[in-house]
Amino acid sequence: MALLKSNKVLYCLGNISPSLGVLSTRSSSWWGGVQMGPPDPILGVTEAFKRDNNPKKMNLGVGAYRDDQGKPFVLSCVRKAEALIAAKQMDKEYLPIGGLGEFNKACAQLALGDNNEVLKSGRSITVQTISGTGSLRVGANFLSRFHGGPLDVYLPKPSWGNHTPIFRDAGMQLKAYRYYDPSTCGFDFKGALEDISKIPEQSVILLHACAHNPTGVDPRPEQWKEIADIVKKRNLLPFFDMAYQGFASGDIDRDAWAVRYFIEQGHNIILSQSFAKNMGLYGERVGGFTVVCKDADEAKRVESQIKILIRPIYSNPPMNGARIATTILNTPDLRSLWLEEVHGMANRIIKMREQLVAGLKKEGSSHNWQHVIDQIGMFCFTGLKPEQVERLTKEFSVYMTKDGRISMAGVSSGNVGYLAQAIHTVTKQNDFALVKIHRVGT
Ligand SMILES: Cc1ncc(COP(=O)(O)O)c(C=O)c1O
Repeated sequence: MALLKSNKVLYCLGNISPSLGVLSTRSSSWWGGVQMGPPDPILGVTEAFKRDNNPKKMNLGVGAYRDDQGKPFVLSCVRKAEALIAAKQMDKEYLPIGGLGEFNKACAQLALGDNNEVLKSGRSITVQTISGTGSLRVGANFLSRFHGGPLDVYLPKPSWGNHTPIFRDAGMQLKAYRYYDPSTCGFDFKGALEDISKIPEQSVILLHACAHNPTGVDPRPEQWKEIADIVKKRNLLPFFDMAYQGFASGDIDRDAWAVRYFIEQGHNIILSQSFAKNMGLYGERVGGFTVVCKDADEAKRVESQIKILIRPIYSNPPMNGARIATTILNTPDLRSLWLEEVHGMANRIIKMREQLVAGLKKEGSSHNWQHVIDQIGMFCFTGLKPEQVERLTKEFSVYMTKDGRISMAGVSSGNVGYLAQAIHTVTKQNDFALVKIHRVGT
């Protein structure tokens, strides 16, 4: 039998007795037990969108910015930085494990502010990562290996869909705290405080720094202050995910306010950053991972272990996007241009929110759509029921995630009227208050 299984014997006998399965030239399967997995809930929406032939179709699933013509947008500051980099004819040697040093410095300064005491004292470390996702995963792996407290991470309910597998695959246990109030389509401040005050000490709490995904609902500064207090009382480890700095309000400092406030209050935070949205560097995969430590000595030790963690995963990060981001951040003209362009992107989204609500009113909708305007950042949690989402897709070719989230970045002056008409058609017969209550826990 061992002989029959060897390639050589099968090769010789395969043509002679094809009817005997064991003698077939086809090798037996290694993966027969692998079940078909479900499509990714967000990227699966794009697949379905691509198959649709309706010329009016809209993809409001994935969170990627589009200009007012509905086209992917490459920032002028990025094009200019690319030209500067190309002119320098730089080499393509490997980066260090922790990435481009200049990038790490600029990335941390962007988040924490140039004059932050943490940066001056050298008690933080930043490594370049494979965008925000890679940063979160490095963070999750680091926690799973070194966190002395419980391996529980508390996510806001709901949170970005990828948070769960990122932490779970790294060996962390997933827990949740209340965040979104379906009855107001706003922040459940009371619920969040109640839940956070019961989290076991030393657990990890994940906080969206700004432009919460998927709800577009952020705490106000005075609410952040109370959250920071409770997090301190419970001795929790705050892990900030900042994937949208500048994209929420158009102001990079305002969007980083919560992160900086927590540090001011003495929290030694962990921070994940992405340059996908705010620089439009989606496919370049540029991000940063920062750990604020007790002192510079602790920071050095932490850095050494993060490098040990990264080395067997991807060895070292890619250089192109990091060079682009660094050139923009460190070249005064390009930096000013970038700030204008981030502001422009954020403003276009804010304008679309207003136009969508105006369009709904014009269609005759009697529901209160104020939350569409109040929510912030790339996404709007509409409050639509799954059946209404299904109708939007089937009858109007409007593609979005089943939870009723739409990416406002995919809405333009050309299609906002069509979207308003579609949403009005699927919501006009329903009691929208019921819709919101129905949405709890989806
Ligand atoms: C909340 C949040 N965190 C992290 C990310 C990571 O994105 P990326 O890996 O593209 O930087 C995203 C992207 O949608 C996000 O919404």
